[in-house]
Amino acid sequence: MTSVSRPAKFWTFTVLGGASLLVYLFATAPAALGTDATERRTLSTEEALTMLALENDLTRTLFTKEIVGKGKKQGLKFDEAWADKDVVAGPLPALFLRGVAEELTMSDVPLRLFLGSDFPIEATNRFDGLQAEKFQAMRLDLKPQHFTDPSTGEHVSMFPDFASAPACVSCHNEHARTSKTDWKINDLMGATTWSYPEDSLTTDEFIAMVSEYRKGVESVWSQYLEELEELEAEKRPEVGDKWPSHGLYIPAHETLRDSIDQLANGTIFMDLMDKVTL
Ligand code: HEC
Repeated sequence: MTSVSRPAKFWTFTVLGGASLLVYLFATAPAALGTDATERRTLSTEEALTMLALENDLTRTLFTKEIVGKGKKQGLKFDEAWADKDVVAGPLPALFLRGVAEELTMSDVPLRLFLGSDFPIEATNRFDGLQAEKFQAMRLDLKPQHFTDPSTGEHVSMFPDFASAPACVSCHNEHARTSKTDWKINDLMGATTWSYPEDSLTTDEFIAMVSEYRKGVESVWSQYLEELEELEAEKRPEVGDKWPSHGLYIPAHETLRDSIDQLANGTIFMDLMDKVTL
């Protein structure tokens, strides 16, 4: 587990660019105003979601490259019908994200996550309305789009989802239900779209947001590990501190979490999380 994707680097630099935020959150603001930092709205939703998008991007890149990519070489299967009882397989990257999104829907944090596109495999993933318009703007500048949706009053942040690995391109181009067959590496394939009812958050609300996201990942991960238990003994990977790049292994959740933290290291996001006790 060594490489970081182009989008991950992109996020690292984007988030580093906002370094003054940390100072504001933990030094200047509480002292200047003399109130409890946890009760004040210290972050704009745009800033919060930009940090969460970094975490999500690192998680997804790690899953796509190190679990799906390397796991396949060890004979592990990944399938869009992974949740069906009679299919023993792991989730595709988009369905991993969908699983996390579903967990978020069940949590108390009013955060929604959606991976959409203008040329989707799954028709219900097609952007419509204002999000479709904003996605066309993203096609031109390849930058995140942040806006308030007047019909719901929600803050929406859309982050570009690039074809960062050859597998993204080949699987989408060859898929029976694809609506586009000429994707190329590094193309903008879609956008990770987050919605939140407020335009700013307290530090506590931000922590709750990140921890619900992480709980969602943990829950999808444990569903995947349960699925692996159904494999015959000789095909079943050992779950622990090793990765498929070493052989027939799958990382336990703590190992996965450690690697995501390592990838995020040095970013403002990790500095922020280090200062806050969960
Ligand atoms: C092995 C096949 C496979 C691979 C590899 C794969 N995808 Fe997908 N992807 C799918 C399928 C199938 C769906 C539709 C899932 C659903 O929502 O039912 C999907 C959904 C998506 C969507 C939502 C829009 C749509 O097409 O429905 C985006 C965006 C997306 N994938 C981007 C990527 C990117 C970027 C990568 C590489 C990092 C990737 N995919 C890797 C099969 C794949």
